[in-house]
Amino acid sequence: MLTITYRDGQNRIGTEELKDYLQEHKTVLDQVKNDRRAYRDALGWMDPEEWASEQQLACLEEKAEEVRKNADAFVLIGVGGSNNAARAVIKGLNGKGPRVYYAGNTISPYQVNELLKELEGKSVYINIIAKNFETLEPGIGFRVLRKWLAGNYGIEAAKRMIATGTPGSHLEKISRENGYTFLTFPETIGGRYSAICDVGLFPMAVAGADIRKIVQGVKDMRKMLYETEGAKNPAYYYAAIRNLLNQKGMMAEMLSFFEPRYRYFAKWWIQLFAESEGKDGKGIYPISAQCSEDLHSVGQFVQDGTPMIFETFLDIKKQDASYILEKDLTDDRFDYLNGMDLWEINKKAFEATYKAHTQSLPCFRIQVEELDEYSFGELFYFFEFACYISGMLLGINPFDQPGVEAYKRYMFEALGK
Ligand code: PA5
Repeated sequence: MLTITYRDGQNRIGTEELKDYLQEHKTVLDQVKNDRRAYRDALGWMDPEEWASEQQLACLEEKAEEVRKNADAFVLIGVGGSNNAARAVIKGLNGKGPRVYYAGNTISPYQVNELLKELEGKSVYINIIAKNFETLEPGIGFRVLRKWLAGNYGIEAAKRMIATGTPGSHLEKISRENGYTFLTFPETIGGRYSAICDVGLFPMAVAGADIRKIVQGVKDMRKMLYETEGAKNPAYYYAAIRNLLNQKGMMAEMLSFFEPRYRYFAKWWIQLFAESEGKDGKGIYPISAQCSEDLHSVGQFVQDGTPMIFETFLDIKKQDASYILEKDLTDDRFDYLNGMDLWEINKKAFEATYKAHTQSLPCFRIQVEELDEYSFGELFYFFEFACYISGMLLGINPFDQPGVEAYKRYMFEALGK
C-alpha cells in the first residue's frame, strides 16, 4: 500500500499547528466521505463499483481484446481529462498491444499530417473520447480520422470506431447513425476524474494493461481512505499540509520522480490540480520534474531560488529493471561505478536529492510498492480524493473550470462558431 511521509528541515509547520489545523477542519474529511449534496453531479468517480463493476470490466475487456487482435495501431482522440489518465498508464507500463497514437490534443497541421503518414499501411482502430463534444481539438481530430478511416476501409470503417461520450449526446447520435461502438462517459464524472470508467479503462485495456488490477488498487485505496480518520488519513494529511504551506507563501508544488515512466502520470497530476484548484485567485501551481535530468535545470531554483515551492517525490520500492555497469578499459574516471546496477545508482541519486532538498524546502515522499497497474489505481484515487479535500480546504469548487470555458468562448467567437 502507498505510504506518504513529510519532512521539512526548516520546520515551517509546527507539530501543534498541524494538529490544530487537522482538528479544526476535520468536518471537511467527513463531508468528502459522506456528504454528496454539494457536488452531487461530479462525484461519480468516488464509487468505483458504479462505473467499473465486474460486468463493465468484462465488457471492456471483450471489446479491447477484439481491437488487440485486429489492430496494429490504435488512435486515442481526446484532450485533457479525456486522454491523460489512459496515456499515463499506457506510457507508464509499456504493455503489449497495438501501438497507441494520440490525436485530438493538438491543432498543429504538421502533427496531423505526421500522424496520417504513420498510420499508412497499418490496421487502425480509433477511440474518440469527448464529454461535451464541443471541444475544438478532439472535434477536429475526429473529423480528420473519420475521413481517413472511411477512405481506407469503406463500409468496414464503422467497425473500427469506438466513441466514448455521454448518453444522449450528439456524439452518441452520430455513433448510433454510423454503427460505431458506443461507450459511456458518465455524466457525473468530470474529465480529469475519469480514469476509472470507460474513458480511461478501455484504452488502457487495449494497450495491454490489466484493468482489474488497476480497479483493485482503486478499491483498496478507497477502503483505506474511508476507514482512516484524522492525521492518519494520508489524503487529508497531504491536503492539510499543502494548504498550510500555501498560507505560508508556498505557491507551487513540484511532483518529482526518478523514473521517466511517470512522465505522463505527472501530466495527469498537473491537470488534476491545476484545473481543480486554480481559480478565484487561489491555488497551488503544479509543476513536475523528471529527475535526474531536471536536477540540472529547475533543481537549482527549487533549492536556492525564491522560496515558493514545495516538492512531492514519487518513489518506487521494488526494482523492476537492471543494467550493470561493467568495468571499462578506458580510464574515464567513472571506475567507482564498476559493477553497480543503474537501478541502485538511480536510487542513490534519489536519496541524495531527497536529503538535500528536505534541508531547504518542504518535501513529501509518496512511495508505492511497484510501478504496476495496482499502484496506478492507488495513485489515481489517492490524488483525486486529496484534490477534493484540498479544494474544500482552499474554499473553491474542485470540479468546475470556469477559466477554460472563458477562453473557449473567445476562440469560438474568433472562429465564427
Ligand atoms: O477535466 C476536464 O473537465 C477537462 O480537462 C476536459 O477533460 C477537457 O477539456 C476535454 O473535454 P471534452 O472531453 O468534453 O472535450
